[in-house]
Amino acid sequence: MSIAHRRGGGRSGVEIRVVLDTGTARLPLHVQVYRQLREHILRGALRPGTRLPSARTLAADLRVSRNTVEAALAQLTVEGFLERRVGAGTVVAGSVREVVPFAAVAGDESSALPAPSGPPSASLSVRGRLLATLGITEIEEDRVSTPGASDARGFPSDAWQRLLARRARDGGYAMLRASDAFGVRALRDAIADYVRLTRGVRCDGSQVVIVSSTQQAIDLASRLLLDPGDGAAVEEPCYPSARAGLRAAGAVVHHIPVDADGIQVEALATHDTVRLVYVTPSHQYPLGVTMSLARRLALLQWAQSRRAWIMEDDYDSEFRYAGRPIAALQGLDTHGCVLYVGTWNKVLFNGLRVAYLVVPPALVEPFAAARRLTDGFSSPMLQTVLADFLAGGHFAAYLRQARAHFEQCRDALVQSIAREWGDVARVGPHDTGLHLVVHLPDHIDDVRLARRAVGHGVGVGPLSRHYAAASSARGLLLSYGGATPASIERGVAALAPHVREAVAVRRR
Ligand SMILES: Cc1ncc(COP(=O)(O)O)c(C=O)c1O
Repeated sequence: MSIAHRRGGGRSGVEIRVVLDTGTARLPLHVQVYRQLREHILRGALRPGTRLPSARTLAADLRVSRNTVEAALAQLTVEGFLERRVGAGTVVAGSVREVVPFAAVAGDESSALPAPSGPPSASLSVRGRLLATLGITEIEEDRVSTPGASDARGFPSDAWQRLLARRARDGGYAMLRASDAFGVRALRDAIADYVRLTRGVRCDGSQVVIVSSTQQAIDLASRLLLDPGDGAAVEEPCYPSARAGLRAAGAVVHHIPVDADGIQVEALATHDTVRLVYVTPSHQYPLGVTMSLARRLALLQWAQSRRAWIMEDDYDSEFRYAGRPIAALQGLDTHGCVLYVGTWNKVLFNGLRVAYLVVPPALVEPFAAARRLTDGFSSPMLQTVLADFLAGGHFAAYLRQARAHFEQCRDALVQSIAREWGDVARVGPHDTGLHLVVHLPDHIDDVRLARRAVGHGVGVGPLSRHYAAASSARGLLLSYGGATPASIERGVAALAPHVREAVAVRRR
């Protein structure tokens, strides 16, 4: 069935399928027509303003009675999906955008969402399909190989267990009952002290909101600060989970190129609709560059002039091996437009699930309220033990030792790559963090190479997966967070034949 559809000044047709089941155990025909038209509207195939053919034409096309079509259209009109105006016919209602905001997204960059195919996806909402699809393609598939959190092996478990046992024994009712959604005050204050001192963040404990992860911070920020259809921006290449979190909230995500100074603010400024940009200034994920001061100032100026938000993900700057640490972007912000995010899941252990946001005072209550609504609060016991861990100096001691260990791992990785793959590979910046990028020739299939590399002792992810656009950049993200110098040397040597084979493929 072809339906006229206005686009810009002109008109174009859209083909939509309405397939009616005429068997004995069928739903009434008017219900079938109603449901299928509603599905086309929800999926964004029939957009607001699209004019439907007359009831008579529809009835003839579908080979049903006019009464059947009228009943379906009447139901869609009552429910607000259609508007019927005298002289103007039947059109998809403009208010559909607000009623089913994800339809707008489904019609834009998410049009590639797979159609529902049998249970259970058939029972998901449009937003549900978006969440499920992004959760699988952008996050779950990457879990296998993408360089992730640090290894808990070096973590001082004895000290942690002692603190945990003490709080379980002596902490009383406060450890067991519901906690404040903002987080436990002692931990919020300890975090404020820590980020003020080590990262130059300007805040006090009242601006700290405890969340379970960076991912939750991104999720809450996108839902609190963006409406479905609003523009958001990420770095290109970027942290895929951040992009997925923004898209899951219905944002239309723009990808802004990164060069040796970080995100290209001039390119960002060409997108008028962007209301929030997610960046990793201290250690760009994945490339590893540090955002220059000039870019930081330009980015802040852009945000101030556009009244836009900057989300600064400072995920691993604790592990800096050379040079002085670069202070957080948030410390330069004079207009309260930066939301600073840090996580303990990466620097301590991944199963902890405690991260934090430092937000301008006006946003503290909305974030806590949204947290309360979505999942309540983090475990008061774990938060209190973490506060004890920080106050008792255990974190500072662990960090010194962990930094030394990871530096050795990093050195082993850089040296093994130079030895084993040096003629075909170029190592990117590696002063900070728990991973580095190895750039490989443009023609290789890095996804295939990364798959073959799983299980060789080094965390491996394909660089090209971090780009949204079809990019010629190829390479591997190699993580040394869960390794030892010896396992890294073995892993890089074991991968050498696969790297060589991948490089040789087109040269033959
Ligand atoms: C760029 C980036 N941000 C944040 C995180 C930590 O995420 P979370 O706190 O959600 O576990 C990671 C983990 O690998 C990361 O790579």
